[in-house]
Amino acid sequence: MPSLRARPLEIIVGAGGSLAVLVALLLRPPGWDVAAVVLATVLPATLVLYGVAAARRARELATQQATLVEQREAMARDTARAEQSRAELADRMAELVTLNELGGSLSSTLDLDELLDRALAAVVAHLRFDRALVLLVDETGEHLTGGRSIGGSDEMTALVAGAEVSLADERSTLVQLARADGPMLFRGIDEDPYEPNRAFAAAVGTTSFLGTPLITKGRTVGVLAVDNRLSGRGLEQAAGPLLFTLGNLLAAAVENARLYAELEASNRELEARVARRTAQLAEAVEQAQAARATAEAASATKSSFLANVSHELRTPLTSVVGFTKIVRKRLEEVVFPIVLTDGAAPDPKVERAMRQVSENLGIMVSEGDRLTAMINDVLDLEKIEAGRMEFRREPVEVATVIDQATAATAALFETTGLALVRDVAGELPVIEGDRNRLVQVVINLLSNAVKFTPSGSVTVRARAADGTVQVEVVDTGTGIDPADHAKVFEPFGQAGDTLTDKPRGTGLGLPICREIVEHHGGRLWLESAVGRGSTFAFTLPVPPRLPPPPS
Ligand SMILES: Nc1ncnc2c1ncn2[C@@H]1O[C@H](COP(=O)(O)OP(=O)(O)OP(=O)(O)O)[C@@H](O)[C@H]1O
Ligand SMILES: [Mg+2]
Repeated sequence: MPSLRARPLEIIVGAGGSLAVLVALLLRPPGWDVAAVVLATVLPATLVLYGVAAARRARELATQQATLVEQREAMARDTARAEQSRAELADRMAELVTLNELGGSLSSTLDLDELLDRALAAVVAHLRFDRALVLLVDETGEHLTGGRSIGGSDEMTALVAGAEVSLADERSTLVQLARADGPMLFRGIDEDPYEPNRAFAAAVGTTSFLGTPLITKGRTVGVLAVDNRLSGRGLEQAAGPLLFTLGNLLAAAVENARLYAELEASNRELEARVARRTAQLAEAVEQAQAARATAEAASATKSSFLANVSHELRTPLTSVVGFTKIVRKRLEEVVFPIVLTDGAAPDPKVERAMRQVSENLGIMVSEGDRLTAMINDVLDLEKIEAGRMEFRREPVEVATVIDQATAATAALFETTGLALVRDVAGELPVIEGDRNRLVQVVINLLSNAVKFTPSGSVTVRARAADGTVQVEVVDTGTGIDPADHAKVFEPFGQAGDTLTDKPRGTGLGLPICREIVEHHGGRLWLESAVGRGSTFAFTLPVPPRLPPPPS
């Protein structure tokens, strides 16, 4: 920019020229007049030219100054704009930091109170609010409660923590906030016409606050409210959307924390239940073990008792039956002939007495035999149950078993006149087991069938079925009521009314049969109904490989 000040050369030229004119004026050398005329002409012209140049320079200067002012103003405007952008950027940064921090803290804990405290701390630290509070909708969905706050006095913290606002109270500002679907700014609450609102405002010392509902999956789980009461800064509606976003983040985290807490509670409950059940089971096992030990001891006592008593009974019983037989034989062969060959006609009284004695002795023998058989059965059953019965393991042909059993019971069929039908498939697989015991089973079933079949027939059937040999004894007898089916397999269990019906056995045959069959790995069952006859069936498994049958 050109300077308005005189340059040194101009000053020197001006001063030098003036001095030369002054010296020439004083000295008036020869020819001065001409020079004076020239000077008098040139000097004003020079001054005029200088003046014009100076005026032009002054105009230029003014223009430049105006431009300068304009530029300075533009710069100031730019600076202000830059300052505003910087502030906005700082705000956005703070928002991002808050969101980020909130996201971080919300995902780093599942403890509800800790989660709320962290969220509130992030809100006041980065969004430049003085205080913040949060209240949650309780499990019943009827109250806002469980409050946490930050930035306020201890009294306010306690007040918020103890607050319980009914969601039915529609005039409450907090309830209005909970029912809103976005952020809300409340002003002048200290002059609110609804007294509880004024009371709450007074208690926490606020007049206006900005708030947002905490919404997740379309459900409100609480409210978040902030204010600037302490610093006196104004609350801007513009902060609402960010607060709303924060609220939604917080709502989702609250929901997660609650679900986690529920899960943990049910987990704990489950663990406690498992522990209780385990303890009960352990106790039950202990009791079962104790009961088993007692039962085993009792069983051992029973076994030895039975063995002793049976032995003690069987020995004299054998003598009684044996001597009775001898007595009967002697009477019939020696004494009765003497009495009868007396020559005289036998006294009817004597004859009756002889017949009576003979019959009674017969009864004594048969009852003695029955008692012996019963003792043997009791001992057998007891032995099998105690696992002390020894079973042979030999290849057995079921057809042979059936033949032996029918031969043994042939007399029964003869005396009763019942028909025996033999229906045994040829080529039955050989099974493995104790032949005599299996014969005992079939004899038992056949004798039962005869015993309980007044007329008709008894069929013994055998065939191969599903890897087993199945044997059936079918009769056309009285049949058994299904209600008694289980009972007849119990020791001493008999069908029908045993008080009125005269029992025709001891009730040990079927339990013994079942034990024997099951010992062979088979199954014994019954199909019957009253008046429809009975079918007793049992299976014996066919072993995969067997040594060849005995020749
Ligand atoms: N074929 C059958 N028809 C009808 N009832 C039967 C038949 N077989 C068994 N029962 C019923 O089952 C009961 C039990 O039979 P089980 O063979 O165990 O004893 P029991 O024949 O009475 O006496 P035992 O010990 O002498 O065999 C019988 O008393 C009878 O009531
Ligand atoms: Mg029987």
